[in-house]
Amino acid sequence: MKDNTFYITTPIYYVNDVPHIGHAYTTVACDSISRYKRLCGYEVCFLTGTDEHGQKIEQAAEKRGITPKQLADEVVERFAGLWKTLNISNDKFVRTTDELHKKAVRKIFNKMKENGDIYIDHYEGWYCTPCETYLTETQLLDGNCCPSCGRETAMLKEPSYFFRMSKYGDTLLKHIEDNPDFVRPQSRRNEIVSFIKDGLRDLSVSRATFKWGIPVPDDEEHVIYVWIDALTNYISALGYGEDGADFEKFWPATYHVVGKDILRFHTVYWPTMLLSAGISLPDAVFAHGWWTVEGQKMSKSLGNAIDPNWLVEKFGVDAIRYFLLREVPFGLDGDFSFKALIHRINGDLANDLGNLLNRTMGMVNRYFDGTVQPYSEAGPEDKALEETIERVFKEVDEHITNMAFNKALMTTWELVSALNKYIDETAPWALAKDEARKARLGSVLYSVLDGLKLVSLLVDSFMPETAMKIRRQLGATQEINVTDAKDLCKIRTFESGHKLGEAEQLFPRIEEKEMLEALKKETDDKKQDDEGEPVVEEIEFAHFEKMVLKAAKVLECEKVKKSDKLLKLQLDLGTEKRQVVSGIAKSYQPADLIGKTLVLVANLKPAKLMGTLSEGMILSATVDGKKHKVLELPDSVEPGTDIK
Ligand code: MSP
Repeated sequence: MKDNTFYITTPIYYVNDVPHIGHAYTTVACDSISRYKRLCGYEVCFLTGTDEHGQKIEQAAEKRGITPKQLADEVVERFAGLWKTLNISNDKFVRTTDELHKKAVRKIFNKMKENGDIYIDHYEGWYCTPCETYLTETQLLDGNCCPSCGRETAMLKEPSYFFRMSKYGDTLLKHIEDNPDFVRPQSRRNEIVSFIKDGLRDLSVSRATFKWGIPVPDDEEHVIYVWIDALTNYISALGYGEDGADFEKFWPATYHVVGKDILRFHTVYWPTMLLSAGISLPDAVFAHGWWTVEGQKMSKSLGNAIDPNWLVEKFGVDAIRYFLLREVPFGLDGDFSFKALIHRINGDLANDLGNLLNRTMGMVNRYFDGTVQPYSEAGPEDKALEETIERVFKEVDEHITNMAFNKALMTTWELVSALNKYIDETAPWALAKDEARKARLGSVLYSVLDGLKLVSLLVDSFMPETAMKIRRQLGATQEINVTDAKDLCKIRTFESGHKLGEAEQLFPRIEEKEMLEALKKETDDKKQDDEGEPVVEEIEFAHFEKMVLKAAKVLECEKVKKSDKLLKLQLDLGTEKRQVVSGIAKSYQPADLIGKTLVLVANLKPAKLMGTLSEGMILSATVDGKKHKVLELPDSVEPGTDIK
């Protein structure tokens, strides 16, 4: 890590989806550590942005009848708007459609090429369009389905540029061994190490099957594979390929923060690309876990992806920021539930922190007409409080730097508890009864106010609005001017002699039962509205009419060599014979099908599956997402009969 700079990045978000709490999570985490490092005097560069190229985006735009750029412009606004709502303090926002970005991608591609690491060949494989990934035979689920999204993949063969990734396996492995913090958390390191040890294959880095991307330099037929394009954002945003002052200043990144699903892209593809281009590697890549919602995976079809804007409207921005980082250790999976959220708000925020501020303000108002007294008389309880403050600041610093946000917040709450305990032990209400103890009473309240100011510094990075609210009520200076984490915890720098600000409730208590009922009603209504929309895109009759369906009698059938999923069928279509490959081998033995009359989509473009020609497709029903049941016609239907 460079001495006084701190460069942190979120993944860039796809614009074919609107933001949900998963996206908010990474961004809030990066925001919190950025704010903290700024407080400690670092020069911070915090980058986020959007990933706007690729087939999925091209398809999503086409569905809506707009251009991919129009779609991107629209969704980018939603991300940018959410970051405002969530008080995200990013220094830069990169879009992969920015000219500067495109220039940087061409530059890195050319660099890799100059170094002999790019060559042209053919790529053949099972391709999942939604995931934009080729999959190996062993990765596929039954029915040649994609293990990530469950949808059917297709066998594709296309000319493609390749990146000689295989060349860098050993260097990367050594780098990971020499830098134990490169892949974080530690628990994820092994999976990456064994992936590399299995042997890196060269990577297909261009596509000729769609247009929405950055063309390969000197070959307009190809666009650069989305991941090369996307990963380069981390340096294009710093001006790599341009004047590069920020690149000089901030690269290598201190942290790339990503979800666990894209760790491999960041710890294998990205570093090998950098090695090839002669650019130094980032310090660390941290993978966080995934959120489920009320125990279920978030998905469009379940309609349970939570809109963070709506959450903020209901619960307030800081409650959401707090919950996301407090509830689950960063790195592990977690579940989002309204019940858990309400418990956190009522317990930690309203009760522990909110009440501490309220009761302290109340006492200063009551005993000293709201004027902050000087610390003039020490007492036996003060030492323990001082020690707690020192320890808490030290530990919070370590936890935040290690991305253990939940621990940082837990530790902060130890100070909140210590302050509550200090009040109970010093019993200001008893001191107030004795005029001779006035100086001690003032000092006790001063210590709590001073402690609250320190709490406001600790929560500043996580809940900036709340921190300000606390300091405003204390009448404390709003600016925090420190140059080092050690300066943050200085006690008794809080001024005295001034009047407290106006009291304001930090977190109103939520009536759990009422709120849960109201939320349930609202989410049910929303689901009903969503269900009203057609799930499947409607097509014109003219489209349907284009499809030629014919009765086809199975003459011969055998397994496709080296495949446990594919059968090769020879079909009689009355006037001609056809060969078709079908992914039904797990549901039928070849002999089961011979003599049956099936339904064939007869005008599909021929394709090769596992190198075997297929001239059409057999219709079948998928039962329980796995088993296939072919559509059978009665024997009386002659082969070749049209089906309408
Ligand atoms: N565009 C790529 C990243 C390219 S970075 C060079 C991408 N985008 S994404 O929009 O699909 O996902 C962005 C991030 O959101 C990923 O880190 C992913 O892990 C995260 N999440 C998506 N769903 C999530 C949850 N349910 N929970 C937590 N994070 C989740 O991948």
